[in-house]
Amino acid sequence: MKRILVIGGAGYIGSHVARAFLDRGYDVTVFDNLQSGVRENLFEDARFIHGDIMRSDQLRTAMASGFDGCVHLAALKAAGQSMVKPEEYAEANITGTIHILNQAVAAGISAVIFSSSAAVYGSPRYLPIDEKHPKEPENFYGFTKLEIERILEWYDKLKGLRYAAIRYFNAAGYDVKGRIKGLELNPENLLPIVMETAAGIRTKLSIFGNDYPTRDGSCIRDYVHVSDLAEAHVKAFEHILENNRSFSVNLGSQTGVSVFEMVDRARVLTGRTIPAELTGRRAGDPAELVASSEKARELLGWEPKYSDVDTLITSTWKMYEKRIVIH
Ligand code: UFG
Repeated sequence: MKRILVIGGAGYIGSHVARAFLDRGYDVTVFDNLQSGVRENLFEDARFIHGDIMRSDQLRTAMASGFDGCVHLAALKAAGQSMVKPEEYAEANITGTIHILNQAVAAGISAVIFSSSAAVYGSPRYLPIDEKHPKEPENFYGFTKLEIERILEWYDKLKGLRYAAIRYFNAAGYDVKGRIKGLELNPENLLPIVMETAAGIRTKLSIFGNDYPTRDGSCIRDYVHVSDLAEAHVKAFEHILENNRSFSVNLGSQTGVSVFEMVDRARVLTGRTIPAELTGRRAGDPAELVASSEKARELLGWEPKYSDVDTLITSTWKMYEKRIVIH
């Protein structure tokens, strides 16, 4: 049985990734400092190590038992915050990753699956965005992800450490079987904010701009279900094992959904009002981001199964409807 270390495996995406490896029969160990990850997301059939990527000694001890591969999802990810607190992002994302890679090399781990982001591309020069698109991040968060991808290229050449850099577009949704128990803490993304409003946790939703050059004036994004993302991590790891070659891939549904479309559909599917007000544009929002994920489809045989708007909304609503606040 192959052994996988999932660093950041108690978080929103990480818990789905841990579940996907467990479902495929892997022996999974989650390593997490529980800063944004939560205990509820730990599975009985996985081991857990409470540790921090800023502590090389803790990583060394964790990796000593021997792993076939490691998935690295432990990072700070609020793009806006990264522009205000770049020091924290540099430490957690860049220094933390260097600790992981150095300990992985020392422990003889030969494959790393790295959570990267569409943020490495910056504003689109053309659509859909493929992997050859220029990489010009417009926020420090995206810069940290790109920097790590570059370090990975060097470790591949110099140390033979094989990697898959997986560039997520807009991750959304929850496990359709309801096996993920923890809600993401302090969500900053559209769909959880829509759901918090539907549940009455927030009184209203702000829609950031209706004057973009798009079909309805609101921004268009490529939402991809987190279970589809998770499945791609397993496929990426298996691809490295079979081919001993590193690669980078986009993961998106290749379908653009506008903010208005998402909110309107959420009203229908939840049966809730979801009060919304139009506010001005949010700084740094490109009008439209849509992935080409042809490479993931061809290279990995990956096919999104849950990334349609209705499944994204209903699987998320199942998590939030339990928390409806009566005013
Ligand atoms: N939006 C609102 N109101 C809100 C929140 C968001 O109108 O309260 C809008 C945004 O303006 C944007 C869209 O909803 O047009 C999606 O916004 P998110 O904040 O959910 O996501 P982003 O597209 O800004 O960024 C996300 C991740 C990034 C990643 C990017 C890749 O947070 O890390 O997707 O596509 F790089």
